[in-house]
Amino acid sequence: MTRKIDIFDTTLRDGEQSPGASMNTEEKLTIARELLRMNVDVIEAGFPISSPGDFKSVQEIGRLAGDDAVVVGLTRAVDKDIDCAAEALKTAKRPRIHTGLGVSPQHIHEKLHMTEDQVIEAATHCVKYAKKYVDDVEFYAEDAGRADQQFLERVVQAAVDAGATVINIPDTTGYQLPDDFGARIKGLTEHVRDIETVTISVHTHNDLGMATALALAGVKNGATQVECTINGLGERAGNTALEEVVMALKMHGDELDGHTDIVTQELTRASHLVSRITGMQVQANKAIVGANAFAHSSGIHQDGVLKARDTYEIIAPEDVGAAGSEIILSARSGHAALKHRLAELGYTFPDDEFDDIYKRFLEIADQKKEVYDEDLESIVQERQRNSTAVYSLDALQVSCGDPLVPTATATVKDEQGDTHVVCSTGSGPIDAAYKAINQVIGANVELEEFSVKAITRGIDAIGEVTVRTQSKDGKVFAGHGADNDIIVSAAKAYIDAINRTILASRAAKK
Ligand code: KIV
Ligand code: ZN
Repeated sequence: MTRKIDIFDTTLRDGEQSPGASMNTEEKLTIARELLRMNVDVIEAGFPISSPGDFKSVQEIGRLAGDDAVVVGLTRAVDKDIDCAAEALKTAKRPRIHTGLGVSPQHIHEKLHMTEDQVIEAATHCVKYAKKYVDDVEFYAEDAGRADQQFLERVVQAAVDAGATVINIPDTTGYQLPDDFGARIKGLTEHVRDIETVTISVHTHNDLGMATALALAGVKNGATQVECTINGLGERAGNTALEEVVMALKMHGDELDGHTDIVTQELTRASHLVSRITGMQVQANKAIVGANAFAHSSGIHQDGVLKARDTYEIIAPEDVGAAGSEIILSARSGHAALKHRLAELGYTFPDDEFDDIYKRFLEIADQKKEVYDEDLESIVQERQRNSTAVYSLDALQVSCGDPLVPTATATVKDEQGDTHVVCSTGSGPIDAAYKAINQVIGANVELEEFSVKAITRGIDAIGEVTVRTQSKDGKVFAGHGADNDIIVSAAKAYIDAINRTILASRAAKK
């Protein structure tokens, strides 16, 4: 039997650090539910001291996970961060505090302005301080990839001696080559006393496109926990992609001496969910979960795959959930069928909420012949967005064409329930709609990016618009809107991004 490799998901913490990928608590809970369904071992739910929203998310995810996963709160090596994380983790049955500090010359001298001895002292202190609250303490040696190896071994020794249960070795800047990173982990296993009593974790970034290779090199040399994110979301070029590590371990478990307990059939759904919630699109040729990961277009490849799938496919699509079940719902489907399918997708609602969802389902079913899982996901997410909305779109009427002047009339509802009917012309229908909306909300954001994609099949597909806006203080927010009419989707997405901007600035003032 190979070693069990723990999957530590940090989509909700490091992943959320991608510009524009910020999520509210409801959205984080939706992703956490999917992570639990997938059977991840550890969920890093947030950085509690960083904001009231992160604090609440750690609390709620702790409550949600129960015995099913370890729930982690990140801290700096600072007492008040640790106090705050310990408070947020009180709801968790299996709490872990993740604390640490930089160990590379760049971090020690340029960021922390400390001596090496002070870093060792701080490492010892933060682990001991966190141990006052919880048994399970993970120590991270930030930027270990660029640290002096002997110093790294000294810091890790101090953290082990202080009682850390997990030692996290991050290549924070994605700088290393896989063999060198592997040698670093091996060095720790050879030179740190009692290292066999703790879990070695690897946390790698993708700046040179090698995050997965680095993580696997770590596993090969003694790590038994990998820190990763769905779709490789994360700071700059991102983190190690969970789906890549999991499938590499599935394919090469013997060589790597490792296996995971991940339900791989959930990988595609998790990828879609995270992409939809964060607005970070997955490139079509992304390994494992990209739209083209199992598409064969050249004649020679098609011929090969038709003769034997494994001529050009090393993974069966169904193993990663790429060919999901096809229960087709339509306007003829009743409450029971919809409830059943939503439950299969992991969503249950009290009866009064379900009635609203059913109404929206019928509206969509009236416009389309078939309602797919992606439509249902979009209904549920739209509902979650609306439940926290400051403004919402009640109605939109647009006239455009050649030679018409594009004109939009929008009805926007505010949080007091008052409706505002506004009208504008524009250079195109979306411009007209946005200018009309600005009359109610005020144009406090710049539109940075606009993308539209069909989230279901056919010409009657639901079109999802994702926008990224920048507020006056430089903060980027993503907004989403989904509807059969892409102008309506565009207006909803714009209002969603504005709502996020307003809610974030209110939270910052608290
Ligand atoms: O990349 C990194 O070093 C981190 C640490 C905070 C674990 O994200
Ligand atoms: Zn990181």
